[in-house]
Amino acid sequence: MTGTAARAETILSLDEVLDTPCLIVDEEIMRRNIAEMAAFASSVGVALRPHIKTHKTPQIARLQLAAGAVGATCAKIGEAEVMVEQGGVEDVLLAYPTVGEPKIRRLLALMERARVVVALDSREAAEALSRAMAAEDRVLDVYVEVNTGQDRAGARAGEEATGLALDLARLPGLRVVGVMTHEGQANAASPEQIEATALAAGRALVETAEAVRAGGADVSAVSVGSTPAATYTPTVPGVTEMRPGTYVFNDNTAFRYGRLGPNDCALRILATVVSRPAPDRAVIDAGSKTLAMDRSLAHPGHGYVVGHPQAEIARLSEEHGVVLLPEGEDRESFRVGDRVEIIPNHVCPTVNLQDQLFLVRDGRLADVWDVAARGKVR
Ligand SMILES: Cc1ncc(COP(=O)(O)O)c(C=O)c1O
Repeated sequence: MTGTAARAETILSLDEVLDTPCLIVDEEIMRRNIAEMAAFASSVGVALRPHIKTHKTPQIARLQLAAGAVGATCAKIGEAEVMVEQGGVEDVLLAYPTVGEPKIRRLLALMERARVVVALDSREAAEALSRAMAAEDRVLDVYVEVNTGQDRAGARAGEEATGLALDLARLPGLRVVGVMTHEGQANAASPEQIEATALAAGRALVETAEAVRAGGADVSAVSVGSTPAATYTPTVPGVTEMRPGTYVFNDNTAFRYGRLGPNDCALRILATVVSRPAPDRAVIDAGSKTLAMDRSLAHPGHGYVVGHPQAEIARLSEEHGVVLLPEGEDRESFRVGDRVEIIPNHVCPTVNLQDQLFLVRDGRLADVWDVAARGKVR
C-alpha cells in the first residue's frame, strides 16, 4: 500500500479521497473471479494461462499466478516485457502474430528472461522468425493459430491449419508445440447458441491437433480462450489450456448470458455528475476519453450505471457523457456533485485509457496500482 493510501484509509471516505473519473476495483470480487476460474480450470484438467490484456497490471498477474496460472497470455511484446519484468511471469504466450525486425529483436531479448511461445498463422512471419532464431542458434516454441469460426486471424481449422503446422515444423529454429484458437465468435452467439458454438470450436481445434500429430508433429498444447465460452470450450476432451482474459473484472457484455451480473463485475468507473441541464438529462465527467466506444448487446448506451438500469449513457463527447433519465428513473440521484458507478461495456480498452487502478476493500481505498502495460501496443 502506498503511504498516501494508508493515510487516506484512516481519515477519508472513498468519495473524499478519489477524484473522478477513475477506475475502482472491488478487491473481493476480483479475487473471487480469479479463484473461481482457477478452480474451474483445475476441475476440467486444463492449464490456465490468463490473457493480461484486460488488466495490464503486474500485481493482478501475480494474483493469477498465485492462484495457479501456468503463465500469461499477451498480445504484444510490450505487454510481455512489463509482465516479465514486473509481474513475475516466467512463461508467456504472445497470442498475436510477431511480424517485423524491431519486434524480432525484442523477442530475442525477452527470450533471455522468460520462456516465450509465439502464435503464428503465416509462412512469411514464420520464415522471418526461423531465420532470426537459426542465426542465433536459438529455438522458439510456436503455437499455430487456428480459425475455428471467428474469421479474424488464423489458418482455417482442418487441412489448411494442418498443412501450415507441418510446414512450420520443418523450419529450423522453430518448434511447433501447440495449436490455439480464440473462439471469439462465441461473444456474438445468442445465449441459446453459445454452448454449441463454443463446443464446435473446441472440437475443430482438437481435430486439427490430431491431424497435425498424425502428420508427424508432436503438438502437445491445444489452447482455447474466451470468457463467454470459458465454461464450455475447455470441457472438450483434448483441450489442454484456456486463456480467458475478461473474467478477472467482467463487464456488462457478460450479463447477456445470464450467468453473470453487476455483482460479478469487479471494475467500475467512478464518475461525477457535472451538469444537470434538463430533468431527463444529466452530464457526467466520463466521455469517450474514459469510456471505450464498444457497444454491448446486453444494455443500450455506453455503459451500465449501477443501481440505475433505466439510465442510458446515450452520447459521448470527449469529456462529457450524456445520461438520459427516463420517467420512472430515480432522477434525484443525479444532482450536480453526485457520483455514479459505471460498469463498462468492454472493460479491456477501458482499462487501457487510465494510468491507475484504485483498489477498494470494504468500501475503503486499499491500494493504488499502476496500469503498467497501458498503451503497450507495440
Ligand atoms: C487470442 C486471444 N486469446 C484470449 C482472449 C481472451 O478472451 P476474453 O476477453 O473473452 O476473455 C482474447 C481476447 O481478445 C484473444 O484475442
